[in-house]
Amino acid sequence: MAASPSEMTERLDAEAIAAVDTSDLLADVVGLPEHVRDAKWKVESAQLRPWDSPGGLIVAGMGGSGIGGMLARAMLGDHASRPILAARTYGLPAWTTPDTTVLCASYSGNTEETLACYEAAGALGARRVVVTSGGHLAELARADGVPVIPVAGGFQPRAAVAYMTVAALEVAGLCGAGPRMGSELDVAADHLEQLAVEWGADGAEDCQAKTLARGLADSVPVIAGSGITQPIAYRWKTQLNENAKVPAFTHELPELDHNEIVGWQSAASLGRFAAVFLDDADTHPRVQKRIELTRELIAEQATATFVVASRGITAVERVFSLVLLGDLVSLYIAVLRGVDPTPVGVIEELKGRLAEDG
Ligand code: F6R
Repeated sequence: MAASPSEMTERLDAEAIAAVDTSDLLADVVGLPEHVRDAKWKVESAQLRPWDSPGGLIVAGMGGSGIGGMLARAMLGDHASRPILAARTYGLPAWTTPDTTVLCASYSGNTEETLACYEAAGALGARRVVVTSGGHLAELARADGVPVIPVAGGFQPRAAVAYMTVAALEVAGLCGAGPRMGSELDVAADHLEQLAVEWGADGAEDCQAKTLARGLADSVPVIAGSGITQPIAYRWKTQLNENAKVPAFTHELPELDHNEIVGWQSAASLGRFAAVFLDDADTHPRVQKRIELTRELIAEQATATFVVASRGITAVERVFSLVLLGDLVSLYIAVLRGVDPTPVGVIEELKGRLAEDG
């Protein structure tokens, strides 16, 4: 049972975290820089030679595995020279052809939607690549001679986000959908190392990650992104769901100024909602103005509002900086609420029940 707001601990030091985070998910979260470096080696170990996919790249995957494709797309930004899209269901877009590369991403290798996309890509004659730690997907790929980018075992799928992102980024480069980003990844790993110290368990009690966690812990977080930060806002939402075990929602600017902003009018009478606006150096200046104005207009109805800026120079650094921050905030909220961040029993239960159904 989660702690009620009045019972919540305020402490977020290593000891308080370890008491709740019994499987040490924190180690995997702050391991992000090391995962980035290891992921590069894992891609190299697959010994892929560059090829040309004029039809672009589709990253097929669900949840913590699928998000890597969306984050890679954000990192490439204007440098993406061909479409890079996510497929998050049982099939691929109708325009998938032999000119398209389909990267099938599943940490477990047993996710039925991703397996269906793998089969569909084969039937359509698309070029397939797999990124997985094993399971049925690895078996099928090996039998079909489809290259497999291996992922280290023993993680929660959502904690392997660096592996999935780097795989998608590298495959985008290999199939001609974007430039290769090897050195940007090295720089980002070094930058993440510093951020993990600043925001980690031994970071100051008033560091940004812990302050945000305290500010959001007793409310339903609503995360707004725009452009490069849009998939990161989605990552924050899903990490808040899975680690902190709270409902959380996401929307994007400027679109939310044309609908959701009106809904905030009744927010305080319905519950406790807090808003987070993700900002970035590349955010359109009119969107930055909108963040400021929207925040002002909803403030009375929100328990708290925050504007959170990415850190770093390159897009790879900036995207990973906000991913790390959101992962830590969600884990710290779990600790404040007294819930173990690791288990996602209801996802397992649902997958089990679907399997029983055939
Ligand atoms: C669990 C998690 C989930 C899974 C999703 C797909 O930590 O994040 O969102 O990622 O259920 O499973 P995989 O990644 O094994 O294909």
